[in-house]
Amino acid sequence: MRRLAGVLPEVNASLYNQGLIFCAGSIHCACKMIPMLSTIVRTLVAAATFSVALAAQAQGVTGDVQAGHKKAEMCIGCHGIVGYQNSFPEIHKVPKISGQTDKYIVAALNAYKKGDRKHPTMRGIAGSLSDQDMADLGAYYASQADKAAPDTPRTASTAAAALIEKGACASCHGANFSKPIDPSYPKIGGQHADYLFVALKAYTVEGNNMIGRSNGIMAGIAKQYTPAEMREIAKYLSTVEGDLKVVPQSRFR
Ligand code: HEC
Ligand code: HEC
Repeated sequence: MRRLAGVLPEVNASLYNQGLIFCAGSIHCACKMIPMLSTIVRTLVAAATFSVALAAQAQGVTGDVQAGHKKAEMCIGCHGIVGYQNSFPEIHKVPKISGQTDKYIVAALNAYKKGDRKHPTMRGIAGSLSDQDMADLGAYYASQADKAAPDTPRTASTAAAALIEKGACASCHGANFSKPIDPSYPKIGGQHADYLFVALKAYTVEGNNMIGRSNGIMAGIAKQYTPAEMREIAKYLSTVEGDLKVVPQSRFR
């Protein structure tokens, strides 16, 4: 299982690393659109809030922390090892999910299951989970939040602050990036920098079976940035104190 992620086709990965796939799906002329941006973001926020309300109504299952603890056995080989790395589509640390919001964990797992998120390993794993499994796992990982991020995040460099301002990140992810406006949105403060970068880039990739995330909200936002700008944002966000962590767990209990 731990080797799985490394054996995927090299071709896609190398195209991606050279920036070719990335460029094919993205629009780099966003600088001309800055005046329109605040309107776009406002519209996105309104649309996002509306779809969250619908999703909440459709949801009938309640997660159970104890049941989630048992089911997490199949996750700890990656998410329960501090500094564990994934090599696809490029080397990056596996995201911290302990302390993440429960509904976001469920939303992310559903996105892999449905194929909106293409990461092959996580698609395979999420595909085997029922709605109840996902709710239990969400409850379990959310219950591992034992520290609360300070209300005010550390000061960003001028460059990072401008990039964050341009994308209105705080309006959805919270002023300290750990208080999302809805529990189905992720906490991003203190997440691994290399993972944040890969995630941002993934939202700009379209029409690829192995790489990318199709998300109506984040696609428009991520496409405004060059890879260098994404790295700058990711670097800053990773230094913000957050609720997220890796809880190391022995495989042999
Ligand atoms: C083989 C390693 C591996 C295993 C096992 C694994 N994951 Fe993952 N997981 C990953 C990687 C790598 C990513 C990042 C994928 C991407 O780039 O979208 C990820 C992403 C996620 C995300 C999205 C996180 C975010 O911030 O968006 C969630 C939620 C998640 N995994 C939950 C689980 C759960 C629950 C299990 C067990 C049922 C599990 N994973 C098992 C490697 C793994
Ligand atoms: C209109 C609301 C909104 C705004 C503004 C917004 N985001 Fe998001 N963001 C979301 C939602 C919703 C998701 C979950 C998407 C999904 O399910 O894949 C998300 C996901 C993410 C992720 C993936 C997190 C993970 O754990 O995989 C990152 C990174 C991210 N956003 C960064 C940013 C940054 C940086 C900005 C500002 C440049 C920003 N977001 C602005 C709503 C927003």
